Amino acid sequence: MHTCKRVVPAAFRGFTSLSRPRTVRQLTPLSTTYSHKRYYSVAQEEVDDLSQPSHLDAATHPSTHARLASDAQYLLALYPRPNLIFSHGKGPHLYDLAGREYLDLAAGIAVNALGHGDEEVQQIVADQAGKLIHLSNLYHNEYAGNFAKDLVGTLKVGDKGRMGKGTKVFFCNSGTEANEAAIKFIRKWGKHTAASGASKHNIVSFGNAFHGRTLGALSATPSPKYQAPFAPLVPGFSNVPYNNIEAAKAAITEETCGVIVEPVQGEGGIFEGAGDFLKAIRERCDEVGALLVFDEIQSGLGRTGKLWAYEHVGVVPDIISVAKPLANGIPIGAVLLSPHIAEIIKPGDHGTTFGGNPLATRVGHAVFKRISNPQFLSHVQELGSYLKSSCEELASSTPLITEVRGVGLMIGMQLRDSVQPQMFVDLCRERGVLVISAGNNTIRLVPPLVLQKGDVDKAVKVFEDVLGEMESYIASGKA
Ligand SMILES: Cc1ncc(COP(=O)(O)O)c(C=O)c1O
Repeated sequence: MHTCKRVVPAAFRGFTSLSRPRTVRQLTPLSTTYSHKRYYSVAQEEVDDLSQPSHLDAATHPSTHARLASDAQYLLALYPRPNLIFSHGKGPHLYDLAGREYLDLAAGIAVNALGHGDEEVQQIVADQAGKLIHLSNLYHNEYAGNFAKDLVGTLKVGDKGRMGKGTKVFFCNSGTEANEAAIKFIRKWGKHTAASGASKHNIVSFGNAFHGRTLGALSATPSPKYQAPFAPLVPGFSNVPYNNIEAAKAAITEETCGVIVEPVQGEGGIFEGAGDFLKAIRERCDEVGALLVFDEIQSGLGRTGKLWAYEHVGVVPDIISVAKPLANGIPIGAVLLSPHIAEIIKPGDHGTTFGGNPLATRVGHAVFKRISNPQFLSHVQELGSYLKSSCEELASSTPLITEVRGVGLMIGMQLRDSVQPQMFVDLCRERGVLVISAGNNTIRLVPPLVLQKGDVDKAVKVFEDVLGEMESYIASGKA
Protein backbone atom coordinates (compact mmCIF):
# COMPACT_ATOMS: atom_id res chain seq x y z
CA MET A 1 0.00 0.00 0.00
CA HIS A 2 1.47 3.34 -0.87
CA THR A 3 1.41 6.02 1.75
CA CYS A 4 1.72 9.10 -0.36
CA LYS A 5 0.52 12.32 1.12
CA ARG A 6 -2.67 13.66 -0.47
CA VAL A 7 -2.13 17.18 -1.75
CA VAL A 8 -4.60 19.64 -3.16
CA PRO A 9 -4.53 19.23 -6.95
CA ALA A 10 -2.90 22.13 -8.73
CA ALA A 11 -6.15 23.12 -10.35
CA PHE A 12 -7.82 23.55 -6.95
CA ARG A 13 -5.10 25.67 -5.40
CA GLY A 14 -6.31 29.19 -4.84
CA PHE A 15 -9.96 28.08 -4.74
CA THR A 16 -12.16 28.52 -1.76
CA SER A 17 -15.26 28.04 -3.81
CA LEU A 18 -16.03 26.45 -7.15
CA SER A 19 -18.09 29.48 -7.98
CA ARG A 20 -15.35 31.94 -7.18
CA PRO A 21 -14.12 33.66 -10.31
CA ARG A 22 -10.61 32.46 -11.04
CA THR A 23 -8.04 33.15 -13.66
CA VAL A 24 -5.24 31.00 -14.93
CA ARG A 25 -2.85 33.55 -13.49
CA GLN A 26 -3.99 32.45 -10.03
CA LEU A 27 -3.20 28.89 -11.02
CA THR A 28 0.14 29.71 -12.54
CA PRO A 29 1.76 32.31 -10.36
CA LEU A 30 4.99 31.84 -12.27
CA SER A 31 3.80 34.48 -14.64
CA THR A 32 3.83 37.06 -11.86
CA THR A 33 6.32 35.88 -9.24
CA TYR A 34 8.91 33.78 -10.88
CA SER A 35 10.96 31.20 -8.97
CA HIS A 36 12.19 27.90 -10.39
CA LYS A 37 12.94 26.36 -7.11
CA ARG A 38 9.69 27.02 -5.43
CA TYR A 39 7.51 25.71 -8.24
CA TYR A 40 9.66 22.82 -9.23
CA SER A 41 9.73 21.58 -5.65
CA VAL A 42 5.95 21.87 -5.36
CA ALA A 43 5.73 19.87 -8.53
CA GLN A 44 8.03 17.14 -7.27
CA GLU A 45 5.95 16.71 -4.15
CA GLU A 46 2.88 16.21 -6.30
CA VAL A 47 4.54 13.97 -8.86
CA ASP A 48 5.68 11.69 -6.02
CA ASP A 49 2.06 11.31 -4.96
CA LEU A 50 0.77 8.48 -7.14
CA SER A 51 -2.80 9.66 -6.79
CA GLN A 52 -1.87 12.81 -8.67
CA PRO A 53 -2.17 13.43 -12.39
CA SER A 54 0.77 13.00 -14.71
CA HIS A 55 0.89 16.28 -16.62
CA LEU A 56 1.02 19.01 -13.96
CA ASP A 57 1.99 22.38 -15.42
CA ALA A 58 4.00 22.99 -12.28
CA ALA A 59 6.11 19.92 -13.03
CA THR A 60 7.28 21.48 -16.25
CA HIS A 61 11.05 21.59 -16.39
CA PRO A 62 12.74 24.78 -15.09
CA SER A 63 14.14 25.51 -18.53
CA THR A 64 10.57 25.88 -19.80
CA HIS A 65 9.78 28.24 -16.96
CA ALA A 66 12.88 30.26 -17.77
CA ARG A 67 11.79 30.52 -21.39
CA LEU A 68 8.26 31.56 -20.41
CA ALA A 69 9.58 34.21 -18.05
CA SER A 70 11.70 35.62 -20.85
CA ASP A 71 8.85 35.45 -23.39
CA ALA A 72 6.56 37.28 -20.99
CA GLN A 73 8.84 40.29 -21.17
CA TYR A 74 8.28 40.62 -24.91
CA LEU A 75 4.94 39.08 -25.88
CA LEU A 76 1.76 41.09 -25.38
CA ALA A 77 -0.21 39.12 -22.81
CA LEU A 78 -3.61 38.74 -24.44
CA TYR A 79 -4.29 35.16 -23.43
CA PRO A 80 -4.00 33.39 -20.07
CA ARG A 81 -1.94 30.31 -20.92
CA PRO A 82 -0.64 27.32 -18.97
CA ASN A 83 3.05 27.05 -18.20
CA LEU A 84 3.85 24.69 -21.05
CA ILE A 85 5.52 24.98 -24.41
CA PHE A 86 4.46 22.62 -27.17
CA SER A 87 7.14 21.60 -29.62
CA HIS A 88 5.45 19.23 -32.06
CA GLY A 89 2.44 17.10 -32.79
CA LYS A 90 1.27 14.03 -34.64
CA GLY A 91 -2.34 13.30 -35.56
CA PRO A 92 -4.52 14.29 -32.60
CA HIS A 93 -1.53 14.47 -30.22
CA LEU A 94 0.67 17.33 -29.08
CA TYR A 95 4.00 17.03 -27.23
CA ASP A 96 5.47 19.54 -24.81
CA LEU A 97 9.17 20.32 -24.36
CA ALA A 98 9.33 17.73 -21.61
CA GLY A 99 8.14 15.10 -24.11
CA ARG A 100 4.74 14.63 -22.49
CA GLU A 101 1.94 13.61 -24.86
CA TYR A 102 -1.43 15.38 -24.84
CA LEU A 103 -4.61 14.34 -26.63
CA ASP A 104 -5.68 17.55 -28.36
CA LEU A 105 -9.46 18.06 -28.44
CA ALA A 106 -9.07 21.76 -29.25
CA ALA A 107 -7.22 21.50 -32.58
CA GLY A 108 -5.98 25.09 -32.41
CA ILE A 109 -9.61 26.20 -31.95
CA ALA A 110 -11.16 24.01 -34.65
CA VAL A 111 -8.33 24.54 -37.12
CA ASN A 112 -6.17 21.39 -37.43
CA ALA A 113 -8.81 19.25 -39.12
CA LEU A 114 -6.23 16.74 -40.39
CA GLY A 115 -4.40 16.76 -37.07
CA HIS A 116 -0.80 17.76 -36.47
CA GLY A 117 2.26 16.82 -38.50
CA ASP A 118 0.25 15.66 -41.51
CA GLU A 119 2.68 14.26 -44.07
CA GLU A 120 0.95 15.57 -47.17
CA VAL A 121 0.65 19.07 -45.72
CA GLN A 122 4.29 18.94 -44.68
CA GLN A 123 5.40 17.86 -48.14
CA ILE A 124 3.36 20.53 -49.95
CA VAL A 125 4.51 23.32 -47.62
CA ALA A 126 8.14 22.31 -48.09
CA ASP A 127 7.85 22.04 -51.85
CA GLN A 128 5.93 25.28 -52.33
CA ALA A 129 8.15 27.20 -49.90
CA GLY A 130 11.07 26.33 -52.12
CA LYS A 131 9.25 27.60 -55.20
CA LEU A 132 7.03 30.56 -54.42
CA ILE A 133 5.43 31.67 -51.17
CA HIS A 134 4.05 35.07 -52.03
CA LEU A 135 3.33 37.07 -55.11
CA SER A 136 0.61 39.62 -54.19
CA ASN A 137 -2.64 39.85 -56.07
CA LEU A 138 -1.04 41.97 -58.76
CA TYR A 139 -0.18 38.69 -60.49
CA HIS A 140 -1.84 35.33 -61.03
CA ASN A 141 -0.61 32.18 -59.32
CA GLU A 142 -1.10 28.53 -60.22
CA TYR A 143 -3.30 27.47 -57.31
CA ALA A 144 -5.91 30.03 -56.20
CA GLY A 145 -8.18 29.53 -59.22
CA ASN A 146 -8.29 25.74 -59.00
CA PHE A 147 -8.93 25.89 -55.28
CA ALA A 148 -11.79 28.36 -55.80
CA LYS A 149 -13.22 26.10 -58.53
CA ASP A 150 -13.24 23.11 -56.18
CA LEU A 151 -14.81 25.10 -53.33
CA VAL A 152 -17.60 26.37 -55.57
CA GLY A 153 -18.08 22.94 -57.15
CA THR A 154 -19.13 21.41 -53.82
CA LEU A 155 -21.81 23.96 -52.92
CA LYS A 156 -25.44 22.94 -52.73
CA VAL A 157 -27.27 25.38 -54.99
CA GLY A 158 -30.31 27.25 -53.71
CA ASP A 159 -33.13 29.00 -55.48
CA LYS A 160 -32.47 32.25 -57.35
CA GLY A 161 -29.06 30.82 -58.31
CA ARG A 162 -27.65 31.20 -54.83
CA MET A 163 -24.27 29.49 -54.50
CA GLY A 164 -24.75 28.33 -58.10
CA LYS A 165 -22.92 28.92 -61.36
CA GLY A 166 -21.10 32.23 -61.23
CA THR A 167 -20.37 32.04 -57.49
CA LYS A 168 -16.98 33.69 -56.87
CA VAL A 169 -14.37 33.38 -54.12
CA PHE A 170 -12.34 36.07 -52.38
CA PHE A 171 -9.33 34.71 -50.45
CA CYS A 172 -7.96 36.45 -47.37
CA ASN A 173 -5.97 35.38 -44.30
CA SER A 174 -8.27 34.82 -41.33
CA GLY A 175 -11.84 34.52 -40.14
CA THR A 176 -12.27 38.10 -39.10
CA GLU A 177 -10.91 39.28 -42.45
CA ALA A 178 -13.42 37.08 -44.26
CA ASN A 179 -16.27 38.63 -42.27
CA GLU A 180 -14.84 42.11 -42.71
CA ALA A 181 -14.93 41.56 -46.48
CA ALA A 182 -18.47 40.12 -46.29
CA ILE A 183 -19.61 43.18 -44.34
CA LYS A 184 -18.17 45.50 -47.01
CA PHE A 185 -19.81 43.46 -49.77
CA ILE A 186 -23.24 43.62 -48.14
CA ARG A 187 -22.83 47.35 -47.53
CA LYS A 188 -22.12 47.76 -51.24
CA TRP A 189 -25.19 45.65 -52.00
CA GLY A 190 -27.25 48.02 -49.85
CA LYS A 191 -26.04 51.06 -51.78
CA HIS A 192 -26.54 49.27 -55.07
CA THR A 193 -30.12 48.20 -54.41
CA ALA A 194 -31.53 50.98 -52.18
CA ALA A 195 -34.32 53.02 -53.71
CA SER A 196 -33.15 56.49 -54.61
CA GLY A 197 -32.70 58.59 -51.47
CA ALA A 198 -33.38 55.63 -49.17
CA SER A 199 -30.91 54.30 -46.65
CA LYS A 200 -30.10 50.59 -46.70
CA HIS A 201 -26.99 50.10 -44.63
CA ASN A 202 -28.13 48.31 -41.47
CA ILE A 203 -26.68 44.94 -40.53
CA VAL A 204 -28.36 42.51 -38.15
CA SER A 205 -26.50 39.91 -36.08
CA PHE A 206 -27.51 37.72 -33.14
CA GLY A 207 -27.00 37.40 -29.41
CA ASN A 208 -24.07 35.22 -28.37
CA ALA A 209 -22.51 35.52 -31.82
CA PHE A 210 -18.79 35.68 -32.47
CA HIS A 211 -17.67 37.05 -35.83
CA GLY A 212 -14.16 38.32 -35.07
CA ARG A 213 -12.10 41.09 -33.50
CA THR A 214 -11.58 43.68 -36.24
CA LEU A 215 -13.92 46.64 -35.99
CA GLY A 216 -16.55 45.56 -38.53
CA ALA A 217 -16.70 41.95 -37.37
CA LEU A 218 -16.56 43.13 -33.75
CA SER A 219 -19.56 45.40 -34.37
CA ALA A 220 -21.51 42.25 -35.29
CA THR A 221 -20.27 40.46 -32.12
CA PRO A 222 -22.60 41.74 -29.41
CA SER A 223 -20.51 40.87 -26.38
CA PRO A 224 -19.85 43.79 -24.00
CA LYS A 225 -16.61 42.08 -22.94
CA TYR A 226 -15.25 42.29 -26.48
CA GLN A 227 -16.93 45.50 -27.61
CA ALA A 228 -16.94 47.92 -24.67
CA PRO A 229 -13.20 48.76 -24.54
CA PHE A 230 -13.25 49.76 -28.20
CA ALA A 231 -16.46 51.74 -28.51
CA PRO A 232 -17.65 53.57 -30.51
CA LEU A 233 -17.95 50.77 -33.02
CA VAL A 234 -19.09 50.85 -36.64
CA PRO A 235 -22.56 52.42 -36.85
CA GLY A 236 -25.55 50.61 -38.34
CA PHE A 237 -25.31 47.29 -36.47
CA SER A 238 -28.06 45.83 -34.30
CA ASN A 239 -28.60 42.43 -32.74
CA VAL A 240 -31.48 40.30 -31.52
CA PRO A 241 -31.58 36.98 -29.64
CA TYR A 242 -30.46 33.89 -31.57
CA ASN A 243 -33.22 31.45 -32.54
CA ASN A 244 -35.93 34.07 -31.87
CA ILE A 245 -37.96 34.27 -35.07
CA GLU A 246 -40.22 37.15 -34.10
CA ALA A 247 -37.36 39.36 -32.91
CA ALA A 248 -35.38 38.61 -36.07
CA LYS A 249 -38.31 39.41 -38.35
CA ALA A 250 -38.88 42.72 -36.59
CA ALA A 251 -35.20 43.70 -36.73
CA ILE A 252 -34.77 42.95 -40.46
CA THR A 253 -36.34 45.88 -42.34
CA GLU A 254 -36.17 47.61 -45.71
CA GLU A 255 -33.15 49.48 -44.30
CA THR A 256 -31.26 46.23 -43.73
CA CYS A 257 -28.57 45.44 -46.29
CA GLY A 258 -27.52 42.15 -44.69
CA VAL A 259 -27.86 39.66 -41.86
CA ILE A 260 -24.91 37.68 -40.52
CA VAL A 261 -25.43 34.47 -38.58
CA GLU A 262 -23.52 31.35 -37.52
CA PRO A 263 -25.52 28.25 -38.49
CA VAL A 264 -23.95 26.68 -35.38
CA GLN A 265 -22.55 29.10 -32.81
CA GLY A 266 -19.05 28.18 -31.65
CA GLU A 267 -17.51 30.70 -29.27
CA GLY A 268 -20.99 31.44 -27.92
CA GLY A 269 -21.15 27.93 -26.42
CA ILE A 270 -22.09 25.47 -29.24
CA PHE A 271 -25.69 26.32 -30.08
CA GLU A 272 -27.33 25.06 -33.26
CA GLY A 273 -29.45 27.46 -35.25
CA ALA A 274 -32.96 25.99 -35.44
CA GLY A 275 -34.06 25.09 -38.97
CA ASP A 276 -37.24 27.18 -38.76
CA PHE A 277 -35.26 30.16 -37.44
CA LEU A 278 -32.76 30.05 -40.30
CA LYS A 279 -35.60 29.56 -42.82
CA ALA A 280 -37.46 32.52 -41.35
CA ILE A 281 -34.49 34.87 -41.63
CA ARG A 282 -33.90 33.65 -45.20
CA GLU A 283 -37.52 34.54 -46.07
CA ARG A 284 -37.38 37.88 -44.31
CA CYS A 285 -34.13 38.80 -46.10
CA ASP A 286 -35.84 38.00 -49.41
CA GLU A 287 -38.84 40.14 -48.48
CA VAL A 288 -36.73 43.23 -47.76
CA GLY A 289 -33.94 42.62 -50.30
CA ALA A 290 -31.20 41.98 -47.73
CA LEU A 291 -28.34 39.50 -48.13
CA LEU A 292 -27.94 36.55 -45.80
CA VAL A 293 -24.37 35.75 -44.72
CA PHE A 294 -23.60 32.41 -43.06
CA ASP A 295 -20.46 32.61 -40.96
CA GLU A 296 -19.18 29.02 -41.28
CA ILE A 297 -15.72 29.92 -40.04
CA GLN A 298 -15.96 27.45 -37.17
CA SER A 299 -18.81 25.20 -38.29
CA GLY A 300 -17.94 24.81 -41.97
CA LEU A 301 -15.67 22.47 -43.96
CA GLY A 302 -16.65 19.15 -42.45
CA ARG A 303 -16.69 20.11 -38.77
CA THR A 304 -20.39 19.22 -38.40
CA GLY A 305 -20.14 16.04 -40.48
CA LYS A 306 -21.40 17.78 -43.62
CA LEU A 307 -19.05 19.75 -45.79
CA TRP A 308 -21.08 22.95 -45.38
CA ALA A 309 -23.05 23.55 -42.19
CA TYR A 310 -25.96 25.03 -44.19
CA GLU A 311 -26.60 21.58 -45.69
CA HIS A 312 -28.13 20.47 -42.37
CA VAL A 313 -31.06 22.85 -42.70
CA GLY A 314 -31.28 23.32 -46.45
CA VAL A 315 -31.25 27.10 -46.15
CA VAL A 316 -28.91 28.57 -48.75
CA PRO A 317 -27.27 31.91 -47.92
CA ASP A 318 -26.08 34.58 -50.37
CA ILE A 319 -22.58 34.70 -48.89
CA ILE A 320 -20.52 32.20 -46.86
CA SER A 321 -17.40 33.04 -44.86
CA VAL A 322 -14.92 30.27 -44.00
CA ALA A 323 -11.43 30.12 -42.53
CA LYS A 324 -10.13 27.99 -39.67
CA PRO A 325 -9.50 24.48 -41.14
CA LEU A 326 -9.18 25.62 -44.74
CA ALA A 327 -5.41 24.97 -44.93
CA ASN A 328 -5.00 22.96 -41.71
CA GLY A 329 -3.25 25.83 -39.91
CA ILE A 330 -1.63 27.86 -42.68
CA PRO A 331 -3.49 31.19 -42.29
CA ILE A 332 -6.27 31.57 -44.86
CA GLY A 333 -9.86 32.73 -45.06
CA ALA A 334 -12.37 32.90 -47.89
CA VAL A 335 -15.65 34.53 -48.78
CA LEU A 336 -17.97 32.81 -51.27
CA LEU A 337 -20.29 35.21 -53.06
CA SER A 338 -23.39 34.15 -54.99
CA PRO A 339 -23.48 35.50 -58.57
CA HIS A 340 -25.87 38.40 -57.89
CA ILE A 341 -23.51 39.87 -55.30
CA ALA A 342 -20.25 38.88 -57.06
CA GLU A 343 -21.41 40.86 -60.10
CA ILE A 344 -21.56 44.17 -58.27
CA ILE A 345 -18.09 43.94 -56.67
CA LYS A 346 -15.63 45.71 -58.94
CA PRO A 347 -11.82 45.86 -59.11
CA GLY A 348 -10.54 48.15 -56.38
CA ASP A 349 -13.56 47.65 -54.06
CA HIS A 350 -11.54 45.44 -51.74
CA GLY A 351 -8.12 43.82 -51.60
CA THR A 352 -5.38 42.13 -49.63
CA THR A 353 -1.61 41.81 -49.93
CA PHE A 354 -1.25 38.24 -48.65
CA GLY A 355 -4.68 36.71 -49.36
CA GLY A 356 -4.80 33.94 -51.96
CA ASN A 357 -1.03 33.46 -51.99
CA PRO A 358 0.36 30.32 -53.68
CA LEU A 359 1.46 28.64 -50.45
CA ALA A 360 -1.85 28.93 -48.60
CA THR A 361 -4.02 28.16 -51.63
CA ARG A 362 -1.95 25.14 -52.70
CA VAL A 363 -2.14 23.68 -49.18
CA GLY A 364 -5.81 24.66 -48.92
CA HIS A 365 -6.61 22.92 -52.17
CA ALA A 366 -5.06 19.66 -50.98
CA VAL A 367 -6.65 19.87 -47.50
CA PHE A 368 -10.06 20.62 -49.00
CA LYS A 369 -9.84 17.62 -51.33
CA ARG A 370 -9.37 15.35 -48.33
CA ILE A 371 -12.00 16.97 -46.12
CA SER A 372 -14.60 16.94 -48.89
CA ASN A 373 -14.14 13.23 -49.54
CA PRO A 374 -17.47 11.52 -48.61
CA GLN A 375 -15.62 8.82 -46.63
CA PHE A 376 -13.87 11.47 -44.58
CA LEU A 377 -17.20 13.16 -43.85
CA SER A 378 -18.78 9.81 -42.87
CA HIS A 379 -15.94 9.34 -40.40
CA VAL A 380 -16.70 12.75 -38.85
CA GLN A 381 -20.40 11.85 -38.58
CA GLU A 382 -19.63 8.49 -36.98
CA LEU A 383 -17.04 9.86 -34.55
CA GLY A 384 -19.24 12.87 -33.78
CA SER A 385 -22.18 10.62 -32.84
CA TYR A 386 -19.87 8.46 -30.75
CA LEU A 387 -18.38 11.46 -28.94
CA LYS A 388 -21.78 13.00 -28.33
CA SER A 389 -23.38 9.79 -27.03
CA SER A 390 -20.33 9.14 -24.80
CA CYS A 391 -20.65 12.65 -23.37
CA GLU A 392 -24.40 12.19 -22.89
CA GLU A 393 -23.79 8.95 -21.00
CA LEU A 394 -21.27 10.77 -18.84
CA ALA A 395 -23.73 13.62 -18.25
CA SER A 396 -26.32 11.13 -17.01
CA SER A 397 -23.91 10.04 -14.26
CA THR A 398 -22.94 13.46 -12.89
CA PRO A 399 -24.84 16.50 -11.63
CA LEU A 400 -22.07 18.75 -12.95
CA ILE A 401 -23.04 18.49 -16.64
CA THR A 402 -26.52 19.77 -17.39
CA GLU A 403 -26.64 19.44 -21.18
CA VAL A 404 -24.69 18.10 -24.15
CA ARG A 405 -25.16 19.98 -27.44
CA GLY A 406 -23.75 20.07 -30.93
CA VAL A 407 -23.36 18.16 -34.14
CA GLY A 408 -20.48 16.28 -35.75
CA LEU A 409 -17.19 16.98 -34.02
CA MET A 410 -18.44 20.29 -32.62
CA ILE A 411 -19.73 19.32 -29.19
CA GLY A 412 -20.50 21.41 -26.09
CA MET A 413 -20.94 20.14 -22.55
CA GLN A 414 -22.83 22.65 -20.43
CA LEU A 415 -21.53 22.72 -16.86
CA ARG A 416 -23.73 23.52 -13.89
CA ASP A 417 -23.90 27.26 -13.22
CA SER A 418 -21.70 27.32 -10.15
CA VAL A 419 -18.89 25.29 -11.73
CA GLN A 420 -15.93 27.04 -13.30
CA PRO A 421 -15.14 25.58 -16.73
CA GLN A 422 -11.50 26.60 -16.30
CA MET A 423 -11.19 24.09 -13.48
CA PHE A 424 -12.39 21.31 -15.79
CA VAL A 425 -9.99 22.52 -18.51
CA ASP A 426 -7.04 22.59 -16.08
CA LEU A 427 -7.74 19.20 -14.52
CA CYS A 428 -8.06 17.59 -17.96
CA ARG A 429 -4.78 19.13 -19.09
CA GLU A 430 -3.11 17.81 -15.94
CA ARG A 431 -4.21 14.37 -17.14
CA GLY A 432 -2.97 14.91 -20.68
CA VAL A 433 -6.18 15.95 -22.45
CA LEU A 434 -6.60 19.42 -23.95
CA VAL A 435 -10.09 20.93 -24.04
CA ILE A 436 -11.28 24.53 -24.22
CA SER A 437 -14.27 26.43 -22.92
CA ALA A 438 -16.82 28.58 -24.72
CA GLY A 439 -19.74 30.86 -23.93
CA ASN A 440 -21.23 30.58 -20.50
CA ASN A 441 -19.82 27.55 -18.65
CA THR A 442 -19.53 25.32 -21.69
CA ILE A 443 -16.73 22.87 -22.41
CA ARG A 444 -16.09 22.92 -26.14
CA LEU A 445 -14.83 19.82 -27.93
CA VAL A 446 -13.59 20.62 -31.45
CA PRO A 447 -10.91 17.95 -32.02
CA PRO A 448 -9.02 17.16 -35.20
CA LEU A 449 -11.47 15.48 -37.57
CA VAL A 450 -9.11 12.49 -37.82
CA LEU A 451 -9.89 11.51 -34.21
CA GLN A 452 -10.45 7.79 -33.57
CA LYS A 453 -12.83 5.95 -31.22
CA GLY A 454 -9.97 4.99 -28.89
CA ASP A 455 -9.17 8.70 -28.49
CA VAL A 456 -12.78 9.40 -27.53
CA ASP A 457 -12.70 6.57 -24.97
CA LYS A 458 -9.51 7.93 -23.44
CA ALA A 459 -10.87 11.46 -23.27
CA VAL A 460 -14.17 10.42 -21.74
CA LYS A 461 -12.37 8.34 -19.10
CA VAL A 462 -10.34 11.43 -18.19
CA PHE A 463 -13.53 13.56 -18.09
CA GLU A 464 -15.04 10.98 -15.75
CA ASP A 465 -12.02 11.12 -13.41
CA VAL A 466 -12.01 14.92 -13.47
CA LEU A 467 -15.72 15.19 -12.74
CA GLY A 468 -15.30 12.68 -9.91
CA GLU A 469 -12.50 14.77 -8.47
CA MET A 470 -14.59 17.93 -8.79
CA GLU A 471 -17.58 16.27 -7.15
CA SER A 472 -15.43 15.08 -4.22
CA TYR A 473 -14.03 18.54 -3.86
CA ILE A 474 -17.50 20.02 -3.74
CA ALA A 475 -18.69 17.34 -1.31
CA SER A 476 -15.69 17.98 0.96
CA GLY A 477 -17.24 21.34 1.74
CA LYS A 478 -14.25 23.29 0.45
CA ALA A 479 -16.36 24.57 -2.40
C1 LIG B 1 -17.71 31.84 -36.17
C2 LIG B 1 -16.42 32.62 -36.15
N1 LIG B 1 -16.31 33.71 -36.91
C3 LIG B 1 -15.18 34.43 -36.95
C4 LIG B 1 -14.09 34.08 -36.18
C5 LIG B 1 -12.83 34.89 -36.23
O1 LIG B 1 -11.82 34.16 -36.85
P1 LIG B 1 -10.28 34.58 -36.68
O2 LIG B 1 -9.93 34.33 -35.26
O3 LIG B 1 -9.56 33.69 -37.64
O4 LIG B 1 -10.17 36.01 -37.05
C6 LIG B 1 -14.17 32.96 -35.36
C7 LIG B 1 -13.04 32.59 -34.49
O5 LIG B 1 -13.16 31.90 -33.52
C8 LIG B 1 -15.37 32.21 -35.34
O6 LIG B 1 -15.50 31.12 -34.57
